[in-house]
Amino acid sequence: MVGSAIWRALKTKGYTNIIGKTSAELDLRNQQAVTDFVTITKPDIIIDAAARVGGILANNDNPYLFLMENLQIQNNLIDTAHKFNVKKFIFLGSSCIYPKLAPQPLKEAYLLTDSLESTNEWYAIAKIAGVKACEAIRKQYGKDFVSLMPTNLYGQNDNFDLKTSHVLPAMIRKFHEAKQNEHAPVDLWGSGSPMREFLHVDDLAQAVLFAVERVLPEFLYNVGTGTDLTIKVLAETIQNIVGHEGEIEWDSSKPDGTPRKLMDNSKLNDLGWHAKLSLIEGIKSTYEWFLENQTTLKQVKIN
Ligand SMILES: NC(=O)c1ccc[n+]([C@@H]2O[C@H](COP(=O)([O-])OP(=O)(O)OC[C@H]3O[C@@H](n4cnc5c(N)ncnc54)[C@H](OP(=O)(O)O)[C@@H]3O)[C@@H](O)[C@H]2O)c1
Repeated sequence: MVGSAIWRALKTKGYTNIIGKTSAELDLRNQQAVTDFVTITKPDIIIDAAARVGGILANNDNPYLFLMENLQIQNNLIDTAHKFNVKKFIFLGSSCIYPKLAPQPLKEAYLLTDSLESTNEWYAIAKIAGVKACEAIRKQYGKDFVSLMPTNLYGQNDNFDLKTSHVLPAMIRKFHEAKQNEHAPVDLWGSGSPMREFLHVDDLAQAVLFAVERVLPEFLYNVGTGTDLTIKVLAETIQNIVGHEGEIEWDSSKPDGTPRKLMDNSKLNDLGWHAKLSLIEGIKSTYEWFLENQTTLKQVKIN
């Protein structure tokens, strides 16, 4: 989802010399393959949008995979970029790097000040290692390696596979299928009370473009909208947009995750980047994309 959005943004801005590979063409867990790729292509900039990504269930069930594969992918890319003197490296992490009970909104300064949320700590620890590796390269060698931490993302090319998807695309699919099934009730995980922030992936792509086109003065920037809503309100918003008229049943035996996760985006906002798409507009266009691509949606298996 993120890689293709950045690709679209770069193309629209007129960049032509862009190289992208699928995991089948270039397995970033393989150090030699990464070295060979960088030797041949000699990139000026590397944007790391590759990761083993998944929702609470996938993270919880596959701790080693989420820790190790993400470390392998990012270590291979960061170290190769460093050794081959790539001019700029943009590392994408996630808001789950911040402590579970950190004050809200989350500032970059809260990194490593308390314990992580246990359901995705494996993934978060890998991402923290990536942020610190880029910070260390900046500190020791003065290189332009920067980390962007997006909040929850959604949009075109999202993962709608219910076993591995995040909350927003999972809800779109569940409400759509329930609507098709005579407006059957929709079961949703947790209590509905946690608060979350959602950023359209095209807005994130503009933030990446912003980082491509200037040297950012610090090593870490949050990327979000600055507003959040409860999961319950999110569900009702999606239900409305999809046109489902049945009941919503909340399964409070399932984990809620962190109670609130709102980013303080002032550092990047102060430099001039702001999210533009509203949540309603974003969900409408994502639902349209889902309807147009139902037969070719990706299936995301973990093992
Ligand atoms: N989705 C979110 O809500 C969210 C929020 C915050 C941050 N992020 C960050 O954004 C980045 C991208 O996430 P996404 O949502 O775009 O996930 P995605 O759609 O699942 O994309 C992940 C990408 O990583 C590639 N990949 C995975 N393993 C690889 C490997 N071993 N070698 C080469 N490529 C590999 C996949 O390639 P193939 O498809 O070819 O296998 C895919 O293109 C991640 O760093 C994630 O932490 C995402």
